[in-house]
Amino acid sequence: MRAPSFGVIALVLIGATLAVLVAVSGRERAAVPVAAVSAAPDATSVAGGGITLTSTAMELPDDAAVFPEGPNVDLVNQRCLACHSTTMVLSQPKMTAQQWQAAVEKMRDAYHAPVAEGEVAPIVAYLAGRQGS
Ligand code: HEC
Repeated sequence: MRAPSFGVIALVLIGATLAVLVAVSGRERAAVPVAAVSAAPDATSVAGGGITLTSTAMELPDDAAVFPEGPNVDLVNQRCLACHSTTMVLSQPKMTAQQWQAAVEKMRDAYHAPVAEGEVAPIVAYLAGRQGS
């Protein structure tokens, strides 16, 4: 027996695909009339089409908008807050001035924090000073 030609195989595949599409499209779709969408008794949720959306209040952790007072604090606010919260920076494990310097240089070199050469030392002084090291 001869192997079926490419054309025959292609025809069979197309036929099978069409059969599946016809079978799938024949199914009933439940239409959701717009009128069925209604506000639930308490105004914090909306229901319709078997789905209920409920709004919930949540407490976000408190976070100071700016770094606490200290030498060079304005510079730290300007250079670090674009990407981090104060809490994120200040709750790091205690680091020496040298480690803070490496961290600030990494921010500048790896993440393009806008820190000029002369600004590294004052920023490090603030951060290391806050941690009392
Ligand atoms: C342009 C955005 C950007 C700026 C500005 C920036 N950082 Fe980062 N920082 C990052 C990213 C990204 C990470 C890595 C986060 C991670 O690994 O999940 C990071 C991580 C850190 C970490 C965690 C330790 C580490 O080395 O990954 C510290 C501490 C930190 N930054 C401090 C600072 C300080 C201080 C400043 C201000 C001088 C600053 N960052 C400015 C983007 C920034």
